[in-house]
Amino acid sequence: MTIEDGMNEYGVLVLRGQDISDEQQAAFSRNFGELEVPDAVTNITKPEDRRLAPLMADVSNLDRNQKLLAADSRQRLFNLGNRLWHSDSSFRTIPAKFSLLSGRVVPQHGGATQFADMRAAYDALDERTKAEIDDLVCEHSLMYSRGRLGFHELSEEEKANFKPVLQALVRVHPATGRRSLYLSAHAGAIVGWPLPEARSLLEELTEAATQREYVYTHDWRQHDLVIWDNRRTMHRVRRYNDTADVRDMRRTTVAGDSPTVRDTSASKAKTATAESPQY
Ligand SMILES: [Fe+2]
Repeated sequence: MTIEDGMNEYGVLVLRGQDISDEQQAAFSRNFGELEVPDAVTNITKPEDRRLAPLMADVSNLDRNQKLLAADSRQRLFNLGNRLWHSDSSFRTIPAKFSLLSGRVVPQHGGATQFADMRAAYDALDERTKAEIDDLVCEHSLMYSRGRLGFHELSEEEKANFKPVLQALVRVHPATGRRSLYLSAHAGAIVGWPLPEARSLLEELTEAATQREYVYTHDWRQHDLVIWDNRRTMHRVRRYNDTADVRDMRRTTVAGDSPTVRDTSASKAKTATAESPQY
């Protein structure tokens, strides 16, 4: 069985004992498609503050000098958004296919990554709910996920970079033809719906989709390489003592190949806008 077959079957694969360099990780990841380049659309980190090479997404709690981020570091507070259930790059018009996360240094306590099977979650919905949500389109933005945690302090430039994009709420997997819920903390509105109604539906679906029977918890060992399919899973990191314990995780992200909706401009959205997300 190839890795891609395994991904289509399981959605998450764990490869233990992969003591690899950034270059090896990038080369291996390219087997699955083009790689996303972390940029101003992805994070608030400025190019001069980056710790890693351009293709590596830094999922650590370290600064460019390999020091722990301070408790009041803006970067640290922004990164806490990873503790919410999300799908990587759902804020991009063409969202991610796979993520590959390499555990270079893992914390002693906590810091597990949990994955929720959004295909099983969709299958478990009753038929009325499936019919109601099948054609809905959501707005996704880093402003929404960060806003949930009270992180609102964004520059005008950052707000422009984090302009909401549209994503289908239900998507069909290109390889398996199976439907799955496409939820994420980045989802903050439904096109044509009043905001409270949209948020309450998204909350309810997320709660249903992340019940224990749909969730795998990965407790990291050093040199684990975990691959997941963002098109049919959500994930989150659990708490750890990130101002004292190093967690050096490096991610490569395989780009998707198409938008999830035909008209990807968020300008038609009748509810929240890039200028005024309310939390
Ligand atoms: Fe993530």
